[in-house]
Amino acid sequence: MASTLPSGDPAPADGALPASALAGLGARPFGVYVHVPFCATRCGYCDFNTYTAGELGTSASPASWLAGLRAELGLAARVLGAPPAADTVFVGGGTPSLLGADGLAEVLTAVRDTFGLAPGAEVTTESNPESTSPEFFAGIRAAGYTRVSLGMQSAARHVLAILERQHRPGRPVAAAIEAAEAGFEQVSLDLIYGTPGETRDDLAASLDAVLAAGVGHVSAYALIVEEGTALARRINLGELPMPEDDLLAEYYEQIDDVLTGAGLSWYEVSNWAASPRERCRHNLGYWLGGDWWGAGPGAHSHVGGVRWWNVKHPARYANTLAEGNSPAAGRETLSAPDRTLERVLLELRLVDGLPVEVLAPDGRRAAGEAASDGLLESAALAEGRCVLTRRGRLLADALVRRLT
Ligand SMILES: C[S@@+](CC[C@H](N)C(=O)[O-])C[C@H]1O[C@@H](n2cnc3c(N)ncnc32)[C@H](O)[C@@H]1O
Ligand code: SF4
Repeated sequence: MASTLPSGDPAPADGALPASALAGLGARPFGVYVHVPFCATRCGYCDFNTYTAGELGTSASPASWLAGLRAELGLAARVLGAPPAADTVFVGGGTPSLLGADGLAEVLTAVRDTFGLAPGAEVTTESNPESTSPEFFAGIRAAGYTRVSLGMQSAARHVLAILERQHRPGRPVAAAIEAAEAGFEQVSLDLIYGTPGETRDDLAASLDAVLAAGVGHVSAYALIVEEGTALARRINLGELPMPEDDLLAEYYEQIDDVLTGAGLSWYEVSNWAASPRERCRHNLGYWLGGDWWGAGPGAHSHVGGVRWWNVKHPARYANTLAEGNSPAAGRETLSAPDRTLERVLLELRLVDGLPVEVLAPDGRRAAGEAASDGLLESAALAEGRCVLTRRGRLLADALVRRLT
């Protein structure tokens, strides 16, 4: 939910989708994303679509957001006709844990009442460590959540300070253990690496903490310096250094070595899991071209090759829905070449790789060269799949340009 929205075409006020998009609905995995646009404070590096209470004033509140969400889910049911049961639900943000266990239970009830949950559905909520407790985890587990993703970022106090995170260094590990004790079998920790001032030892300490927490899933993202953030201003003023690509590559290798050594394998360039069962099925739905309805301010959706995105501001979101209209701000229908490019961009990043027949003849030739350069696994290519080597994982974006 980054800060700028694509331009695209106008979206109809009733949210209707063409019959071609609805064909085959339910035969593909179906996910529901709910965007919670609230944070207690804004972290210095973050440009996600999220707002503090001070920024919103009286224009919007969790109550007006929840009313809008319920209205949007009702609209989704009408647009989809017979909506499929959700295979996965992902409540993200922003800070979903600010809603508390009761608020998150209401969100899941609204989703369940609209779509129903498929047997064995994966139901995730992101949570910030500082707004969780044993009672919170017990409450959301009882409500039906099956997976928790905690924003840890680092175990080093000075790194958390540069990122302007609110939690104490030890809190994410304690929270992960509390979640497991509340019955969550799927707990994930998010790390950010390459923060100005982060040393190899700091990263090693963060990885030690992750392993001590005993989680079965880790996401690790290179810090992106987003224009317009407080962090970008400090870097532009020369107060802090820009993360360097070579160091980011070294840190990625350090993360991969430690996690792999501890039995967590990569399954997407930035994601590691202890077993295939621990992989995030919701995100796999995004990466493998599934259907999902993204509800909430600024949320993106995709059904059968049509992609749309909602208005960003919570007040506009709630008001548009209160007037009986779709909150979609724009949409686009993916052409066949667009869909191929998307497949290359997303599937190439997965451990199962991209079927080579998706590539045009020039791309297939480039894949052969990339295998000779050590960027793609030669054995997998011989079997018809483009699978990144570790060096390839470090250069995935450049490789996509060579293959398309
Ligand atoms: C936007 S957050 C939402 C969940 C929660 N509020 C949190 O902070 O963990 C989801 C993930 O995106 C990461 N993220 C946000 N901005 C980023 C950036 N500029 N570079 C790298 N990761 C970023 C967060 O740190 C977090 O792990
Ligand atoms: S808590 Fe998460 S969503 Fe909120 S500002 Fe920080 S990184 Fe962004």
